[in-house]
Amino acid sequence: SVPVLSLQELVKEPLSQVPDRYVCLNQDPLALFDEMPAVPVIDLKKLATEDITSSELEKLHSSCKEWGLFQLMNHGVSSSVIEKLKAEIEEFFKLPLEEKEKYQRKEGEAEGYGPIRYLSDDQKLDWVDRLYFMSNPLHIRKPHLMPNFPPSLRDTMELYLAELQKLSMKILGSMAEALKLKDKKEIEEIFDDGLQSVRINYYPPCPQPEKVIGCGAHSDASGITILTQVNQVEGLQFKKDGTWLPVNPHPDSFLVILGDALEHRVTVNSHTGRISIAVFFNPKLEANIGPATTLVNPQIPPLFKTVTMKQYIKEFFSRKLDGKTFLETMKIDYE
Ligand code: SIN
Ligand code: FE2
Repeated sequence: SVPVLSLQELVKEPLSQVPDRYVCLNQDPLALFDEMPAVPVIDLKKLATEDITSSELEKLHSSCKEWGLFQLMNHGVSSSVIEKLKAEIEEFFKLPLEEKEKYQRKEGEAEGYGPIRYLSDDQKLDWVDRLYFMSNPLHIRKPHLMPNFPPSLRDTMELYLAELQKLSMKILGSMAEALKLKDKKEIEEIFDDGLQSVRINYYPPCPQPEKVIGCGAHSDASGITILTQVNQVEGLQFKKDGTWLPVNPHPDSFLVILGDALEHRVTVNSHTGRISIAVFFNPKLEANIGPATTLVNPQIPPLFKTVTMKQYIKEFFSRKLDGKTFLETMKIDYE
């Protein structure tokens, strides 16, 4: 079949039915509870001002351990930068296709604008257009992407990423404290100036939303992901204790996802497009990633293998996961 350059273009003419290529039936249903459990909320201000025995730190620890995600309030990132970025991104998707084509993802590459990278012509497609690019270290930026974005988008993105980089270090530092690591530096050093990438997702309204998936179940190839919704449209769901739950983040919060430890997916609806911005934070390519050395000893052996970040990324994108998160495939089998 013909390669799809942009779903947004495809839905310009109202469709009565979704093309076969997008039909993706038999998704696990959402859990049904009388009262849906709410994603924990962490207050960064409290984390920063309280001591290491604080209840907020305890809450962070249980959110990471039992949920794999949390909403972060009082995160300190300038709301004017966030609002400006959201407006710039809405403008980006309104650009004519000829403009967006400058950033088109090329065959065999992961970065660029368009549908998710697909492996074969008959593979099912997610109901989404995305703009994905590596943003750090600076020398791996592709010249035709971020440096070439419309200047106001590029400059605002630069400010946003600088603020989020600082924020990610605070979050990771608190996570290290919550784990009672002897040396916070063990985490801070590998993430400092680490690998960072950005994915902006646009999910157009769909005439038959129950037949498609905006983003199929996956875990992120990241240490942590910081997510912002450009508009307050629901759709993101995550798996907890084997069931799918919805997440509707508070508009002033960021959603922090523990990367490869959390399975999530996105559904779409028939009336409103949804836009989200995900920034992925990873260790440096040459860093070793695995159980913190200060947490393991002969009595407490590691549960996961240690590999370099480079190996991890390479394998993440080449392994068949068969419904597992990638992290699960890294478990050491002591049998
Ligand atoms: C994603 O997991 O990449 C998308 C998350 C979202 O759109 O909320
Ligand atoms: Fe994701």
